Amino acid sequence: MKSLIIFSHPKPEKSLANKTILTALSGAAEVRTLIELYPEYRIDVRAEQEALLKADLIILQFPFYWYSVPAILKLWFDEVFEYGFAYGSSGDKLKGKKLLLSFTTGGPKEAYSKEGYNHYEIEELLTPLIQTANLAGMTFLPPLYTHSMVYIPGHREKEEIEVRALEHAKKVIALLNSEQ
Ligand SMILES: Cc1cc2nc3c(=O)[nH]c(=O)nc-3n(C[C@H](O)[C@H](O)[C@H](O)COP(=O)(O)O)c2cc1C
Repeated sequence: MKSLIIFSHPKPEKSLANKTILTALSGAAEVRTLIELYPEYRIDVRAEQEALLKADLIILQFPFYWYSVPAILKLWFDEVFEYGFAYGSSGDKLKGKKLLLSFTTGGPKEAYSKEGYNHYEIEELLTPLIQTANLAGMTFLPPLYTHSMVYIPGHREKEEIEVRALEHAKKVIALLNSEQ
């Protein structure tokens, strides 16, 4: 089983949580860092599709932005999941592949509930991504996410974020191992 990580942080140099997770995952799977490949946001659609064709498990690693994915990952979906590739009468190239969302949120767990300030459960907010996977014939794996991962100096210790980022990475590695 071949795994591919699509790392979708727009500013990896400023990331603590996702960068810590990614560092822990390096070596476990091939990594494509979108912003390094496409600093001008000009996605090489063929290169991305080639990479996807070779993978059985696709892991999207990202910070949760405005209840969704960062712009570069949305652009990646818009361009790479094109007609005839991901959907349409001959668009079966992703069929049977597994998709894992692995992400961090700034908001705490309790905020993501009907009573919380974000009003919706995380899984409800993921509906468009779940349906994207469905339309492409992919298997949407239970997502892995860790809350309260925004680093605010003086409010939360850097080490605390790093520890929880490593716990998150361990879950991804366990999944990778179980998929071998
Ligand atoms: C543009 C932007 C939008 C964000 N939107 C959300 C959001 O909708 N929900 C949330 O819980 N956190 C949100 N956050 C917080 C990020 O998810 C958080 O900073 C990130 O997960 C920390 O990971 P990093 O250290 O790798 O950047 C947002 C942050 C930014 C910069």
